[in-house]
Order: sequence, then structure tokens, then C-alpha cells
Amino acid sequence: MRVYLAKNYNDMSRKAANIISAQIIMKPNAVLGLATGSSPVGTYKQLIEWYKKGDLDFSEVTSVNLDEYIGLGPEDKNSYSYFMRSNFFDHINIDSKKTYIPNGLENDEKKECDRYNLIISRCGGIDLQLLGIGNNGHIGFNEPGTTFESETHRVTLSEKTLAANSRFFESIDKMPKYAYSMGIKNIMQARRILLIASGKDKSDALYKALFGAITPNVPASILQLHNNLTVIADEKALSQILSTHTISPGGHIL
Ligand code: GLP
Repeated sequence: MRVYLAKNYNDMSRKAANIISAQIIMKPNAVLGLATGSSPVGTYKQLIEWYKKGDLDFSEVTSVNLDEYIGLGPEDKNSYSYFMRSNFFDHINIDSKKTYIPNGLENDEKKECDRYNLIISRCGGIDLQLLGIGNNGHIGFNEPGTTFESETHRVTLSEKTLAANSRFFESIDKMPKYAYSMGIKNIMQARRILLIASGKDKSDALYKALFGAITPNVPASILQLHNNLTVIADEKALSQILSTHTISPGGHIL
């Protein structure tokens, strides 16, 4: 595990974009596992900027997103499908036929989960999985208590997640209560994982994820067992860790 200390959100975003950019340059037909939420928005902005400058090409890239709300179609402004198009895909030259997101309008849970697992395996697995972290330690929408063996599944969103994500909706009652999410097993099978975190709100979850017991109660704690994990977090998100440790420029926690 390497943990890089970023000064702030913009610095975190640039550092994360650097790693994604390196992945695409080293493997132009890379499979990227992508995330939504506030954390990756700056990373996507930076990648768009480099694409526009001519430094990056997404034409051979495939993407698989982590999750989608059940009940929201791609034209719904709160769907993750809409989020990905407006924050990223519409601004780069990725082939839309190679961008995958769970279908929130599919009511047949088993059919959708099987379909999504098959997509991940057919594209040869994920080269680089980008992750944010929920303030309860969730990754994707894998809420506390999710078994580490899970593949794509239907999730009942926790109270804490509903409260945190309600900021995007008119009111908490208008929020979907369920989602489809890649499972922990899908995430752990990615060849490389890049976890990003910014802000004080994430400091407790990040501390528990990287230093706490490895337990389904903190889904992100399983990442300690991944053999190629890079964490990029800003000073606020790392504040709890920095109260007892220092971080070397090379990303080692001392
Ligand atoms: C959301 C998403 C996660 C995301 C997390 C943190 O619910 N399902 O993939 O990492 O919560 O979101 P944010 O980056 O907005 O804090």
C-alpha cells in the first residue's frame, strides 16, 4: 500500500489523474473501473483537460462503473449514468458502447447482476479501479455488513448513506432506497486500486479502512489485503492518521 498526502482537493485530483493517465498511456485499451460522487469530479476534470490538450486518448478504453441507483434511468439527472456522461464521457473520446453502468431500470435483480458480472469478466477484468469512500467506510455501494465474497448485488442503502447523498436530491424522500453495486469481490479482483478521499468527513472512515480491523463492518478495510493499492488523500482526510503517524514522500506510513 502507498499513501500519498495531497495538500487539498485539487492536489488530490491532479495526483489521481496522473495515475489514471499513466495507466492509459501504458495500456491504451485499459479497463477502468470508475466511481461517482464528489471525490472523483476533480480527477475527471483534470483528465478532460489533458485530453483536450492532446496528451490522452480514450478511444480504446473500456469503463465499468461501480454502481447505479435502482429506479433511475440514464436521463434522470441524479442517475450515475447521467453523472458520468456530464462529468466525464461527453468531454472525451471514449466509445460510449464501451462504457458500462448497471441498469437502474432493470427490476429483475438476478438478471441484472449476472449481466454485469459477465460484462466485467468478458472485458478481461479491471486494470485500474478508482474508488471514493463513504463516511461509513463503504466502497461502491457496499454498505457495512456486506460480505467480502459479494459480486454485483442489489443493495439497501444505509441511513448514513441516504443522509450523505440526499444533498444531491430535492429531499431525502425523493431518493432511491436501493442500488445495484459491484461487490467487494469484483473490486478486489481489479489489478490495481486507486482510493481517493478529501475532507474531514472522511478522516475516521479512512483511518479505520487503513489501520482498523479488517471487517465487513468497514467494507473499505478489505483493501488492506489488496496487493496493489494506492491511496491519495488530502490533509483533512488524513488528519486522524497524521495525528499518530507521518507519511513519507514515497507514500510509506511511518
Ligand atoms: C457514494 C458512491 C460511492 C462514493 C461515496 C462517497 O454513495 N456510491 O462510490 O465513493 O458515496 O461519495 P463522495 O465522493 O461524494 O463523498
